[in-house]
Amino acid sequence: MAKITTATLQKMKQQGEKISTITAYDASFAKLFDQAGIHAILIGDSLGMVLQGQDDTLPVDIEHMAYHTQCVKRGVENTLIISDMPFMSYATKEQAFTNAAKLMQAGASMVKLEGGLWLADTIEGLVERGIPVCAHLGLTPQSVNVFGGFKVQGREQAKALEMVEHAKALEKAGAQLLVLECIPAELGKMIAEAITIPTIGIGAGKDTDGQILVMHDALGISCSYMPKFSRNFLIDTGDIKKAIELYISEVSKGNFPGEEHIFK
Ligand code: KIV
Repeated sequence: MAKITTATLQKMKQQGEKISTITAYDASFAKLFDQAGIHAILIGDSLGMVLQGQDDTLPVDIEHMAYHTQCVKRGVENTLIISDMPFMSYATKEQAFTNAAKLMQAGASMVKLEGGLWLADTIEGLVERGIPVCAHLGLTPQSVNVFGGFKVQGREQAKALEMVEHAKALEKAGAQLLVLECIPAELGKMIAEAITIPTIGIGAGKDTDGQILVMHDALGISCSYMPKFSRNFLIDTGDIKKAIELYISEVSKGNFPGEEHIFK
């Protein structure tokens, strides 16, 4: 398999091929996922919850992210590596530049930031300085305290239309990928059609250009509960590499997510 870049993902969207991505936090899982043919690996700040056992992602800092990015990088040959900018590490443009540089130097090929319009200027600055950006809208977990819990976003028409406008602004600012988390399937479709960059959904329906899952959910090893939008692929296969191959194939055929995994 050839090395996957942001250009590969863009071409996949243009050709209507579905993109499969998953989180990983260490070299061993990253190597298995890379060998299974996953298109991108996210070192998510979800590591605060699934590795550290925290209640949310807020305690994760840039040193945690850089350490796990280095670990993943050592296991990966072809997959695109995306690393999360943790809570408050991009509160100002200057902080974003310093912290994104740490993740790129640790082995990331792209960084992910949570938020809408207010980030446009920061994204423009990062891209100008050679740092590709994945944006993230919908249920952005770093804002859990503002939302009052991990709740589906964009159900009201005004909020949905606002999210479409934010997606367009993030694309215009230079973002090359957009994660959409926990939004109604119809809104996921609307955003995927409104912008030209690939959209990667998690609980955003089947019409986004790709899907992402937290590896612990996809393998049924979450210490808390199985989210509605996820599926345990290990149960059907009994083998981690085969489970990820099944996930990729189910996404590519449009079988995952199914009706039972989507929000209305
Ligand atoms: O931190 C993470 O794992 C994420 C995914 C859920 C998209 O942001």
